[in-house]
Amino acid sequence: MDDQNIKLRDKTNSNSPLGVKGLISEITRLKTEKNAVIMAHYYQMGDIQDIADVVGDSLALAQQAAKTDANIIVLCGVHFMGETAKILSPTKKVLVPDLNAGCSLADSCPADAFAAFTAAHPDYTVISYVNTTAAVKALTDVVVTSTNAKKIVDSFPKDAKLIFGPDRNLGNYINSITGRDMLLWDGACHVHEQFSVEKLVELKAEHPDSLILAHPECKRPLLLMADFIGSTQALLNYTINSDATSFLVATESGILHEMQKKNPDKEFIPVPPNDSTCACNECNFMRLNTLEKLYKCLLNETPEILVDEEVRLKAVKPILRMLEMS
Ligand code: 13P
Ligand code: SF4
Repeated sequence: MDDQNIKLRDKTNSNSPLGVKGLISEITRLKTEKNAVIMAHYYQMGDIQDIADVVGDSLALAQQAAKTDANIIVLCGVHFMGETAKILSPTKKVLVPDLNAGCSLADSCPADAFAAFTAAHPDYTVISYVNTTAAVKALTDVVVTSTNAKKIVDSFPKDAKLIFGPDRNLGNYINSITGRDMLLWDGACHVHEQFSVEKLVELKAEHPDSLILAHPECKRPLLLMADFIGSTQALLNYTINSDATSFLVATESGILHEMQKKNPDKEFIPVPPNDSTCACNECNFMRLNTLEKLYKCLLNETPEILVDEEVRLKAVKPILRMLEMS
């Protein structure tokens, strides 16, 4: 890491007397001492992605959590990702740097209301996006992520009665590409719903050769403009394999860190949200995690994610079913 980067990062962790260099060396020391693994979602800030042992999308983090031999998993992401890791690895200690890192999409699907919805359709198979609480997963037949949703939905007979929750945009998109008519839960992610079609039209006019990349949690009008639609990992892979050199990216802007790292000579422009003067779109929950909180969390082994055992035993089945089908 060069001095310029360290200076920039010192700003974002200015409250720590250790400074960025000190935080990095302490995190590295504690990680080895405690046999911990640090996992980070692509939407984390760049400095957290850089120090993580594993960086990935929701599917990759679940896969890694299921097979790690570390004693401690520090999940730098949001609460449901920590829960998924704990459900898959119940004997490990699972920590998250900030317990307030929730998810508007998971919050849009309360377990009691979802239970009433599924009970009203007893002959339906319930497919839930991984962005849900453990209690919702416990009501689910098979979990999906945006990486494997199409494949898993396609594995059911064409006339199967399917419920898909909680993301209405992902559900609509999967319906459109699989020819299904799944019953959808009416939930959404506040970050992905905020991207502005008007601003994207303007950006495209300014950068006519740029390709538009969009996450399927975005609304349909924006998806209709996209050259490629995919999960965070699929978007990243696309930038690596494409001959194009400039991309307009409609997903949380944390992914630009890895896109730029993997493609140093290509240009990445974040699509802005509707109601902001900011040029990018950040998940306020994901951004609660900082290098300093990561250090304190490893040092004190808190906050810890705990899942009620009865709920865990129900929730683990649809997650394992997803991992087998992925
Ligand atoms: P993926 O990691 O599956 O692309 O999901 C994006 C997301 O919204 C995670 O919170
Ligand atoms: Fe949840 Fe959206 Fe943030 Fe992902 S980006 S964690 S779906 S609120």
